Amino acid sequence: MAFNVTGDAYDRFMGRYSRVLAPQLADLAGVTAGQRVLDVGSGPGALTAELVARLGDDAVSAAEPSAKFVAALRERLPGVRAEQAAAEALPFGDGEFDAAIAQLVVHFMADPVAGLREMARVTRPGGVVAACVWDHAGERSPIAVFWRAARELDPGARDESELAGAHEGHLAELFREAGIGELEEAVLEVPFGPASFEEWWEPFTLGVGPAGEYVAALDEDARATLRERCRELLPGAPRAVAWAARGVA
Ligand SMILES: C[S@@+](CC[C@H](N)C(=O)[O-])C[C@H]1O[C@@H](n2cnc3c(N)ncnc32)[C@H](O)[C@@H]1O
Repeated sequence: MAFNVTGDAYDRFMGRYSRVLAPQLADLAGVTAGQRVLDVGSGPGALTAELVARLGDDAVSAAEPSAKFVAALRERLPGVRAEQAAAEALPFGDGEFDAAIAQLVVHFMADPVAGLREMARVTRPGGVVAACVWDHAGERSPIAVFWRAARELDPGARDESELAGAHEGHLAELFREAGIGELEEAVLEVPFGPASFEEWWEPFTLGVGPAGEYVAALDEDARATLRERCRELLPGAPRAVAWAARGVA
């Protein structure tokens, strides 16, 4: 999945949630001072900023395929080594890092097992590989209401529930397939309570990710119908939950 949008658009759509997720995933990965850590699929840097706060910028590297996100990351965190690259072909040597972490990325990889295997390769033996993906299958992501409304109005709508890692236990399966052992699974939770419907809805019109692309492809009437169905459903939205896994390289 290509993210050809600005870092600011991403922040308004998803970064506002991933910033809150980042310390939890860093804790799960056991990130502590003195380590060297790689952020895989960093986007414009929600997790990267958390890693820099813990480790200092010269101990943090990032790999991200979107040119716009790499540019945003380099501007925001100039001391971080940021490479334009996909998880499946990381431009780093074997065992360079104490941990490699992918926050909300595995489900967008073209080949998740190959991506995780690469993460393990660049992590030193005994180091940690960790990842998380929203519980899209359980309708517990911050955009679950959107996909519920879209499916109601358009049964052919392809939501994110069947993507890699988006249902319980699947991340761990992928880790195992990638040869990563000593697995531990966890559930991460983000408080979800948008200040208003408009504040929640407006970022869907910025073209970010599968949901943004879905909205962009609708005509004006269909978009208004979807928006109004979301407005009806939003008050019942559940908390936002991500499946997480960590293992040892
Ligand atoms: C939902 S964003 C998550 C960004 C950031 N990790 C965060 O938590 O805010 C998904 C990111 O995965 C990146 N991505 C897509 N395919 C990828 C791949 N094959 N390898 C690494 N990153 C990928 C996208 O460009 C995007 O930046």
